[in-house]
Amino acid sequence: MMKQITFIGTGYVGLVSGAGISDFGHKVVCADIDDKKIDALQNGEIPIYEPGLKEIVDRNVNAGRLSFTSDVDGAIQAAEVIFIAVGTPQSDNGEADLSAVKAVAKTIGRNLNGYKIVCTKSTVPIGTGEMVRSIIDGENTTENQFDYVSNPEFLREGSAVKDFLWPDRVVIGTETEKAFDILKDVYRPLYINETPMIHTNVKTAEMIKYASNAFLALKISYINEIANLCEAVDADVHIVAKTMGIDGRISPKFLHPGPGYGGSCFPKDTHALATIAEKEGSPLKTIEAAIVTNDSQKVRMVNKLRTLTGGFKGKTIAVLGLAFKPQTDDVRESASVTMLEFLTEEGANVNAYDPIAAENMKQKFPNVTYVPSWEEAVSNADGMVIMTEWNEFRGLNLDTLKSLMKTPTVLDTRNILSPTALKKAGFMFDNVGRPNGSKTL
Ligand code: UGA
Repeated sequence: MMKQITFIGTGYVGLVSGAGISDFGHKVVCADIDDKKIDALQNGEIPIYEPGLKEIVDRNVNAGRLSFTSDVDGAIQAAEVIFIAVGTPQSDNGEADLSAVKAVAKTIGRNLNGYKIVCTKSTVPIGTGEMVRSIIDGENTTENQFDYVSNPEFLREGSAVKDFLWPDRVVIGTETEKAFDILKDVYRPLYINETPMIHTNVKTAEMIKYASNAFLALKISYINEIANLCEAVDADVHIVAKTMGIDGRISPKFLHPGPGYGGSCFPKDTHALATIAEKEGSPLKTIEAAIVTNDSQKVRMVNKLRTLTGGFKGKTIAVLGLAFKPQTDDVRESASVTMLEFLTEEGANVNAYDPIAAENMKQKFPNVTYVPSWEEAVSNADGMVIMTEWNEFRGLNLDTLKSLMKTPTVLDTRNILSPTALKKAGFMFDNVGRPNGSKTL
């Protein structure tokens, strides 16, 4: 049955999920207090880069199922189901900043004009459901009731639309059958396709999200440490990871070594979970270690490049890739931020190239030179580092690269170039955990 749904917050999660749910046949209004953002969306502009998002938004806007408004009160009053999808950035003490969630809860409480479902999609600390519930109760002066649902999202930036339409599972945390049935209806096409629908209580749902992200972060830090040990004992981490992954209990996913995880989720969520655990007197030593390992992995890449180039002062260094992963323009917590910090501070001339993320990095590092191609970035460079595994870097021609650079020196933090080919072409190079990544060539 078609439902009237409102999303509050038009960031990654709100926009992708709102568009996705309208694609399921529901009528969706995406609301935001940011007038400018709403104006842009109403004019068909998508404020973020996400493959397939423009198509799904356009399709549903044209079908009359998806619209945008800055009238948050009106959108709440019109809805049967309200999704909270506002940001929960990390605050200075490591905890998630819930001020936006609290503000939205108040607005919902003031506009409760009938029975509604209030459903949180933002990643929020365990116990937030209870808090949201009591804020709404506190503001609600009517007899109208609501049920609360925690419905965490497992979208990856760069493949968020696909992840939304074809999820591995849907988690519905709620204490009432009525709310579960309504949410099942919202996700009806997935339910029919037999996507597992996990009905659990609110706190368990909140925990599932954090525990999942923290586990994936842990897996990455683990393989990064194994990669570092591989360097010391001359083993090849790629073959180690691939072979480990054949074991179904381990799985090959999230076992790619690299410069350390970044993005808006893993760094923030691991900190938030570790902080909650500490506060509860049940510390998560494994996650705390994963965080430390990740921070040092980012610096380790800087040290590798410094060793290869013999110091940064006065050198021209090409940085290929700025986004925290391919298919996104997001540079938040990207390992390239750490790289640029050290390079600029130690007096390198940096030529950076990224297919789409340069604009975002420019705001953090206005003094870096941003060029429109990798060829320009490497021209006359004393050293080059690959920070993001964009496809166009996988196929870069080593002969061209060598002829353009002043000194053929490469650090491949994503292990996308062949050590054998680099060696044959006469490069000085290093990578993460692969033999022939020798510093002595
Ligand atoms: C992550 C989770 O994968 C999603 O399931 C979750 O919904 C999302 O956070 C969220 O909480 O919203 P995302 O941050 O978009 O998604 O990106 P990932 O693909 O998970 O990559 C995160 C970082 O880990 C990137 O910097 C990536 O380069 C790195 N990574 C990933 C590795 O270094 N090795 C790997 O094997 C995998």
